[in-house]
Amino acid sequence: MDKLIFLDNGATSFPKPEEVYTFMDQFYRNFGVNPGRSGYDLCLETAELIEETRKMLTDFFNGNDPNRLCFSYNSTDALNLIIFGMLKEGDHAITTTLEHNSVLRPLYHLHKFNGVEVDYISFDDKGFVDPDDFQKKFKKNTKLVIINQASNVVGTIQPVKEIGKYCKERGIPFAIDASQSAGKIPVDIEEANVDVVAFTGHKSLLGPTGIGGLYVRDGIEIRHTRAGGTGVRSAVRTHLEEYPYRLEYGTLNVMGVAGLHAGLKWIEKKGLDNIHEHEMKLTSMLRDGLKGIEGVSVYCQDDLTDHISVFLFNVDGLEALNTATILDVDYNIASRSGLHCAPLVHEQLGTDKIKGAVRFGIGPFNTEEHIKTAIEAIKEIAETRKK
Ligand SMILES: Cc1ncc(COP(=O)(O)O)c(C=O)c1O
Repeated sequence: MDKLIFLDNGATSFPKPEEVYTFMDQFYRNFGVNPGRSGYDLCLETAELIEETRKMLTDFFNGNDPNRLCFSYNSTDALNLIIFGMLKEGDHAITTTLEHNSVLRPLYHLHKFNGVEVDYISFDDKGFVDPDDFQKKFKKNTKLVIINQASNVVGTIQPVKEIGKYCKERGIPFAIDASQSAGKIPVDIEEANVDVVAFTGHKSLLGPTGIGGLYVRDGIEIRHTRAGGTGVRSAVRTHLEEYPYRLEYGTLNVMGVAGLHAGLKWIEKKGLDNIHEHEMKLTSMLRDGLKGIEGVSVYCQDDLTDHISVFLFNVDGLEALNTATILDVDYNIASRSGLHCAPLVHEQLGTDKIKGAVRFGIGPFNTEEHIKTAIEAIKEIAETRKK
């Protein structure tokens, strides 16, 4: 069978740049010890990599204090730290129906078990939320606005700058989930008036799974919801207050940080704009190709300006899971079917009633050949349905 065509980059990027595999292997073989715990050379080298990567990520998000960049295990982990650490009983939060379960579920838990009130802003028929809708929901007890910067389902990039401006005027902390956007478009906390950003390493930042983090702007405090080892000041009885230790618990994923370091370097070398341009050119080609096939429904707006390289489609009359299975088994094309951990998006689109849709996610290593093959495959599947 032909080589795998990976169009599931919304779930994770694959493959990674060769430099990521090489650097992780070399680094872990030569320096993979526990950083910051002792003073021997290997330990110092490992700590240096961690600090350098903190600095790279701080610059990447346009923050100003690398100590406010804390590593976690993925964005779900970071988002849990944010949501449980910033909200308490009696508080009100605002989010959107575009969110991933890593935001929806912590909020739902807080609502169900701790009496936190949550408002959900829905998106328009093009896939965007309206900043004015947030303003209308602000209350005295609103303690957090948290939104997905780029949808993992419909691919739209949200107007975070305007929402952030409204939050800033009211002194309400504003957090974004940059799981899909980081590594595809600039995530600039200054420009977008963002207080906290959560990211994951294994998607467009091109690192491995098991590493992610958050950047917390100076002046924003997140309560401890865990406690444990930090490697420093061991005699202190409670978890350390100061960043980054405040939000880091136990031994870091050193190998993950190494991979993230190499991924960031690769992105820097290629240029974020070039990566985005390449991905969007292919997205437009694929979207247009599928739109031209009779018996295929494409859920994607026409204008791809504020868009990342994911979108949904269905072959009419065929369950998304079946389409994805045929793509896999007969064509060796990887996609993702179902609700994409974002049930409210599908509810709003109505695709929850037909067990979701198929998502294509294009990455930096996809080619025009991949796209042409995928279009032909969907054409054949749709033809077969008609017979
Ligand atoms: C928008 C969004 N948020 C959060 C996540 C969770 O990422 P992770 O599984 O790396 O924690 C994802 C992953 O699919 C996502 O697309």
